[in-house]
Amino acid sequence: MCGIIGITGSDDTVAALLDGLALLEYRGYDSAGIAIVEPSNTIFRMRAAEQGGSLYHLANGLSKEKAGSLNHTAGIGHTRWATHGAPTVTNAHPHVDCTSALAVVHNGIIENHNRLAQELKSRGHTFSSETDTEVIAHLAEEQIAGGKSVKDAVIALLTILRGAFALALVHRDSPDTIYAARRTSPLIIGSESGVGLLASDVAAMIDKTRNLFELGDDQVAEIRPEEFKVYDHLGVEMQPKPIRVGWSTEAARKGGFPDYMSKEIHEQPTALSETILGRLEASGATYLEELEIEDSRLAAIERVLLVACGSSYHAALAGRHAIEAWAKIPAEVDIASEMRYRAMQIPANTLVVAISQSGETTDTYHAMRQARSQGVITLAVTNVVGSLMTREADGVLYTRAGPEIGVASTKCHIAQLALLQCLALRLADLKGTLSDAEKSAVATEILALPALVEQTLASHEQFRKVAERYAESRDFYYLGRRLGFPVALEGALKLKELAYVRAEAYPAGEMKHGPISLIEPGSVVVVVAKRSSLWEKIMANVEEMRARGATVIAVSDEGDEETASLVDDVLETPPVTEVCSPVIGVLPLQVFAYTVAKAKGHDVDRPRNLAKVVTVE
Ligand code: AGP
Repeated sequence: MCGIIGITGSDDTVAALLDGLALLEYRGYDSAGIAIVEPSNTIFRMRAAEQGGSLYHLANGLSKEKAGSLNHTAGIGHTRWATHGAPTVTNAHPHVDCTSALAVVHNGIIENHNRLAQELKSRGHTFSSETDTEVIAHLAEEQIAGGKSVKDAVIALLTILRGAFALALVHRDSPDTIYAARRTSPLIIGSESGVGLLASDVAAMIDKTRNLFELGDDQVAEIRPEEFKVYDHLGVEMQPKPIRVGWSTEAARKGGFPDYMSKEIHEQPTALSETILGRLEASGATYLEELEIEDSRLAAIERVLLVACGSSYHAALAGRHAIEAWAKIPAEVDIASEMRYRAMQIPANTLVVAISQSGETTDTYHAMRQARSQGVITLAVTNVVGSLMTREADGVLYTRAGPEIGVASTKCHIAQLALLQCLALRLADLKGTLSDAEKSAVATEILALPALVEQTLASHEQFRKVAERYAESRDFYYLGRRLGFPVALEGALKLKELAYVRAEAYPAGEMKHGPISLIEPGSVVVVVAKRSSLWEKIMANVEEMRARGATVIAVSDEGDEETASLVDDVLETPPVTEVCSPVIGVLPLQVFAYTVAKAKGHDVDRPRNLAKVVTVE
């Protein structure tokens, strides 16, 4: 979690850091802070920790004290998602050493920080925070006091620190230099016209430069306005790996919507068409060469194991059906945080697909790595170019949804669903399990999805009106069967994370095995009741709920009067075949959760207790 930024050589260091932090806020917003080397060779530091407004308070403070007054010197900034220590100003980054000669920002977790802190304290260091990060400042201080240059001190840290880190450090004796290091946590560096930069992700940098490079594991960077140098853990100079990105700066901003979430909901037709663009033809032909896994290896796949967390896990559950239905090979789905701690026995010829919007979710990353250590082929499906998982997987498929800033996943989830369908069709092609006519029918339907999503979102107002009627309800049950179940799970997750309302999702047939005891007058049941061969069974389950006093809302097909007559409210969506139905079915449920959350006055982009990128276990 957390976002870090660094800039040197800018005309206005304060403004540049604040701009970058605003773009990184989705990574955490418990506190925000910056440190800049002043021309007088002292470290200026300011931090704020205000619920829902750390960056705003920081910017306010800076505008009074320092706006526009600092230029060309090196500055670092941090936006925090608290792990070690409460979200307070004293725990806010940057952290300094005993003499405030240096300041450091960090994303990740230093696993051996307790032991290191004890040792440092026994040697006379004074700590002022509860964070794991502060040990970095004091360790660097010791190394420099022992005669090392700042760069060599940072290189030495690589052998002392255990865990995950992306860190940036400034020292009062090197007013124009930022030192950075990373292991596991992401860090991008770049430069443009006499300005050197670093950030946790490309979205925070692309309005300043597209000359971007990835700092590798256990590498150290020395960034100056005119140049940067990268070294390995032995101090040998290295060439950093360039990163190519196609995102526009505007794509990372709100674009006229009141919040990122509504912007991203309405970007879904584009996200979808970009994701399938050039990958699929109406004939059923698929083009996934970017995968860089040879067809012969893919054709030999005998089973697929999909692994993910949260909304990505729900996409995996839907993707499994497409793989089984079209490629006719067994497909299983596992929750990453569980899978990584099982004694996994993954058979040879399994394709392990790790799905992650961010590409950085620790649980998914480690599950994927563990699978890889068993010799199976791994594929990362992610939205973030150059993210952690893409660097370890055998193959990568990018959802091309553009940056997703809202903490609740919307457009990336939809893009994952479509991309997994493309993958399923590719496997079916290689396996020869579908006739040409079947492949073409499936491809035609996937290609029609962007327009259908647009058509569905045109009913936004209808969805909103229904949702407003339930803004005060407290107990929601989301039910679905087969492909309706992942939709139910996703709808319930959206309501929980945004509206802070209890919402349980069950396979509809499972209710009678226990949860039905919970149903009473006042319970709201949201049922995914789009037409499929299981429709009658679902409606029988609906009857069971209504008989016990529940109010029922159905996600139904447009014009399906029979369904409408059997429930209290409908969220009508265009009819579509069952395998493609999750893409359409989830849309009204996103709007439903958004509306209820807004009615309660919640910040939909930054729900409480959550962060966009979950890099802790
Ligand atoms: C989705 O709305 C949530 N914010 C969350 O469940 C998320 O899907 C999960 O943390 C996985 O993230 P990832 O896709 O980046 O791996």
